[in-house]
Amino acid sequence: MLSEKNLHKIEELKKSYPTSQALVLPVLWMIQEEHGYISEESMKYSAQLLDVPFGHVLGVVTFYTMFHSKPIGKNHIEVCTNVSCMLRGSEKIVELLEKRLGIGLGETSKDKKWTLSEVECMGSCGTAPMLAVGEEYHENLTPEKLEKILSDLELK
Ligand code: FES
Repeated sequence: MLSEKNLHKIEELKKSYPTSQALVLPVLWMIQEEHGYISEESMKYSAQLLDVPFGHVLGVVTFYTMFHSKPIGKNHIEVCTNVSCMLRGSEKIVELLEKRLGIGLGETSKDKKWTLSEVECMGSCGTAPMLAVGEEYHENLTPEKLEKILSDLELK
């Protein structure tokens, strides 16, 4: 399930972490990086690897929106709909995205090119409304800016 390189890394990390439970986050990151998402099978594997209850791993995966329990599209668009973004027009941004991509929140397009997610505050309230594509933030969104972002992504 994990490469030899990552298994070695885990052994090294174990030396500096107080409990194996503290390694759940790094192990889940490694799995997601290697496989693109964290399947139920991967969660069971992690629980066994770290000797922690499956329920704990499941709780972590489902709590943090940065972990994906299903395969996601090539471009993962995460739109913040929390208070500041909502007050500055995130509803319109979501509406435009749904129309343009032909998918709703929490869905992946049939061609696996797009996944659209709604997320909580991403710490960019001063430049709301915003969205993230992977690790890249796009802020002070307007319909025109959104169109440019999507066009650029389509060309990639
Ligand atoms: S409310 Fe959207 S980034 Fe904080």
